[in-house]
Amino acid sequence: MEIKAAELDPEKFIQEKVEEIRQIVGNKIAILALSGGVDSGTLARLGLMALGHDQLKIFFINNGLMRKDEPEWVFSTFAKEGIPVQIIDAKEEFFVALEGITDPEEKREAITRAFYKVVLPRLIRETGAEFLFHGTILTDIEETVAGIKKQHNILEQIGIDTKKEFGYQLVEPLKQLRKDGVRKVAEALGLPESVYNRMPFLGPALAGRIIGEVTPEKVEIVRQATAIVEEELKEENAFQCMAILHNDKVTGIQKGKREFGLQIEVRCWDSRDARTASPTEISWQKLIYQLAKRITDEVPGVVSVTYNITEKPPSTMEAI
Ligand code: XMP
Repeated sequence: MEIKAAELDPEKFIQEKVEEIRQIVGNKIAILALSGGVDSGTLARLGLMALGHDQLKIFFINNGLMRKDEPEWVFSTFAKEGIPVQIIDAKEEFFVALEGITDPEEKREAITRAFYKVVLPRLIRETGAEFLFHGTILTDIEETVAGIKKQHNILEQIGIDTKKEFGYQLVEPLKQLRKDGVRKVAEALGLPESVYNRMPFLGPALAGRIIGEVTPEKVEIVRQATAIVEEELKEENAFQCMAILHNDKVTGIQKGKREFGLQIEVRCWDSRDARTASPTEISWQKLIYQLAKRITDEVPGVVSVTYNITEKPPSTMEAI
């Protein structure tokens, strides 16, 4: 079932998948929720090649949990590629779904429900679609099936009949690939480097980077910290870097006074396919004087910044 990146012939893969998509969808309508990442970006181009604009409708669901300027970036980047994206404001639905939830797997479940049971069925009804294009890749399936993490986008593989439960059938053309294979296909499809080399970002978005309850205020804090981390660590060319907001507070000093403040954990990973990973070697200079200093100076309430030095396993890349 797996197609390894080294053995992948992207042109052949594209041809086969275009054919397969046409056979599955026929003359019906499909929708795709584009996050702007390499998986859903690849799928958008592949889906449009197979079905065209009349049969494939592409949406960006703004769940209120995205990174700084992300909806605007996705809209303009894909518009330039001839991939029009309609932005759907679903912030309210997601924050309501997350209210009061602190357990990590329950948080993932709440996001899955809001996405697949509330927002997408509404779009399915409005467009008259019968199919949902889904950027599932092999690593997502394996980790969920192995019980490591319930990835937000795994449905059929854990026995959910989406047709019966949510009213749409899934189309998952990338599920034999890992991230490195998807990048090869994306490049062969002519997508820009900002898409095919884009750092992975998890479906549960910034909610997955907050320990404890997710509130709009906490999302704003982790959003600001994330922007600084991504900016300062850009040149490391790491597989992924992130900021995590902890639930526990610690004593620090701000403006010469004791402050029982927030803690941000920075993680930066070297990895090929996300199955295993190790922390990137970042200079002290950068960690202390660029990252920690900027985060404590610029993000309100933060008095402590740590850097994770654990490999995956036993760590996972994300904190929840
Ligand atoms: P972990 O934390 O399991 O992450 O080591 C491995 C890779 O998967 C991403 N990730 C997700 N992606 N939905 C996604 O689309 C999810 O629920 C999810 N959880 C983790 C993570 O960012 C990393 O690249």
